[in-house]
Amino acid sequence: MTLRFPTRAVLSLCLAFVLGAGVAAAQTEPKPGRQPAGTVPDLGEQTRLFGLLELQRIIRGFQISPVDLDLQGTNPALVGLGSYIVNAQGGCNDCHTNPPFAEGGNPHLGQPKQINVDGYLAGGMTFGPVIVSRNLTPDENGKPAGLTFAEFRLVMRTGKDLKNLPPHIPSQQNDLLQVMPWPVYGSMLDHDLRAVYEFLRAIPPIETGSTQPSR
Ligand code: HEC
Repeated sequence: MTLRFPTRAVLSLCLAFVLGAGVAAAQTEPKPGRQPAGTVPDLGEQTRLFGLLELQRIIRGFQISPVDLDLQGTNPALVGLGSYIVNAQGGCNDCHTNPPFAEGGNPHLGQPKQINVDGYLAGGMTFGPVIVSRNLTPDENGKPAGLTFAEFRLVMRTGKDLKNLPPHIPSQQNDLLQVMPWPVYGSMLDHDLRAVYEFLRAIPPIETGSTQPSR
C-alpha cells in the first residue's frame, strides 16, 4: 500500500518525534533514583494526598538540598519534607558538618552561603574536650548513623546515647547526649521524624569527619 503525501508526512513526523524524544531521554536520563541537588522529582499521583502547605514544604525541601539525593527505595515526598526540616529548620548542618560551610561560603563572614557538601552531615565537630558530633550519613547498610528508624526515634525523643560514647552523663547506665538539642527535636511529630530519617537515608554516605566522600 502506498501512502499519500499528507499521511506519509504526518507518520514520519511522528516517528521522528518518538525517536528524537528517545535519544534525548537516553542522553539526559540520570541514574535511576539519582536526584541532583536542588532539583525536584516528579511526585506523581502522591501529590493529590497532600495539603498545599505540605506540598510547598516538600518542593522547597528538594530545592534547598545541598547534595544529590539517592531516592531509590525511599518515599520521595518524605525525603523532600525531611530536607525542609533538616536544611530550613533543624540546623543539623551547623553541628554535624565539619566545617558547616565551604571555603569562601560562610554567610557569617558576609559570603554567599555554600554548604560544605564534601562533609555534609558526616559529623566530626568537637564540643569541648570529649564531645564530638556523630556521622548521620547512611552506613554500609544504608542506615543513617547506623540506626534503624525505631532507634533514631528513641534517640531524638529521649537523648539516649545508644553508642555509649563518653562522657557518661548523668551516669554510665543512663547515658544521655549532652550537646545534641534532643529536648527540642523530641517534640516533633512522628511523621516529621520519619521524614528527617528518610532524608538522611537519601544523602551521600561519607566517612566520619572526613571532607572527602568515601563512596
Ligand atoms: C548544637 C549542635 C547540634 C545540632 C544543631 C544537632 N546535633 Fe545531633 N548531635 C550533636 C552532638 C554533639 C551529638 C553527639 C554527642 C552529644 O551530644 O553528647 C549528636 C548526636 C546526634 C545523634 C545520635 C547519633 C548516634 O550515633 O547515635 C543523632 C541521630 C543526631 N545527633 C541527629 C541530629 C539531627 C537529625 C539534627 C537536626 C534536626 C541534629 N542532630 C542537630 C550536636 C547537634
